[in-house]
Amino acid sequence: MSIKRVVVTGGSGRVGGYVVRQLLEDYEVVIADLVPGNADASYVQANVMELDQLRQAFEGADAVVHLAALDYDWNCPPEQYIDVNVRGTWHVLQAASEQGVKKVVLCSSISACGLSEMRADWKPQYLPVDEHHPNSPVQAYSVSKLVMEQMAKSFVDGTKMDVICLRPLAVVLDETLEQYIEFVDTADRNWLFYYVTAEDVATAFDCALKAEGLRYGVFFLSADDTSHPRPTLDWYADIIGTPPMLRVPRRYHQHPRASIFSSAAAKEVLGWKPTSDFEQLRERVRTRN
Ligand SMILES: NC(=O)c1ccc[n+]([C@@H]2O[C@H](COP(=O)([O-])OP(=O)(O)OC[C@H]3O[C@@H](n4cnc5c(N)ncnc54)[C@H](O)[C@@H]3O)[C@@H](O)[C@H]2O)c1
Repeated sequence: MSIKRVVVTGGSGRVGGYVVRQLLEDYEVVIADLVPGNADASYVQANVMELDQLRQAFEGADAVVHLAALDYDWNCPPEQYIDVNVRGTWHVLQAASEQGVKKVVLCSSISACGLSEMRADWKPQYLPVDEHHPNSPVQAYSVSKLVMEQMAKSFVDGTKMDVICLRPLAVVLDETLEQYIEFVDTADRNWLFYYVTAEDVATAFDCALKAEGLRYGVFFLSADDTSHPRPTLDWYADIIGTPPMLRVPRRYHQHPRASIFSSAAAKEVLGWKPTSDFEQLRERVRTRN
């Protein structure tokens, strides 16, 4: 499949800037967003709630990367998450298929599985958590991301368009690294200490665009390690409770700080490789200060 022109919805956002800069190395990139961004790419103003604006923006595109959304961080009312993230994504998929776009790469989220909600009744059923793990989201943002993945499958089944869904974990940008470290180091933090760097997310979108012969897929994007300084099974036992079944026990022996989430599928199928090491990221902040 020859992909030359890629439209990136939400390309002006935090993650979008990294993705656009990466894709500019190999593609003609057009940002479709409510506002222009800083990346050195063409820009077309488009609201994902307006189908006609998307039809125009996608004219002549070989692929669409869909990042535009209301992110969890913005703490929007539930109905807005469903409006923009669900209906907006439907518009993106519909407009893309109408315009003969060959491939769409959707930005889903770890939230689709519901584990980011840290509910007492919804914990990892086994480790590492992979794409076969059951999903049980209840918050509107998380639900919107799971529904996106199902809509993507429907377009794959009903059209010739390929759609790949990527599920980044908490995305750490160089500019938010200190803030993220403060968050994870807060005493009594009840969390799963997951992350992926924005640079690595950007290369994953590139890998998804380049993957040949893959009509549909959902992939977690996790760093190999966690952001907690202690061995994973130790802090898990203290903070979350007795660890569940270990599907790959050697994982936490060979690499004691291995992530709760597995990126094995993204590595094997997309050829993606996360490059970060959280100890080095902490060192980067120490040397900055
Ligand atoms: N930041 C994270 O940690 C994280 C983690 C997992 C998944 N994600 C997903 O990554 C994607 C990008 O997130 P981000 O952190 O860069 O968010 P962001 O808010 O920084 O960027 C979102 C972009 O979408 C645009 N946008 C919003 N509504 C729009 C609309 N109606 N029409 C057109 N454009 C619109 C905004 O102008 C903005 O440029 C989102 O889909 C988000 O859910 C983010």
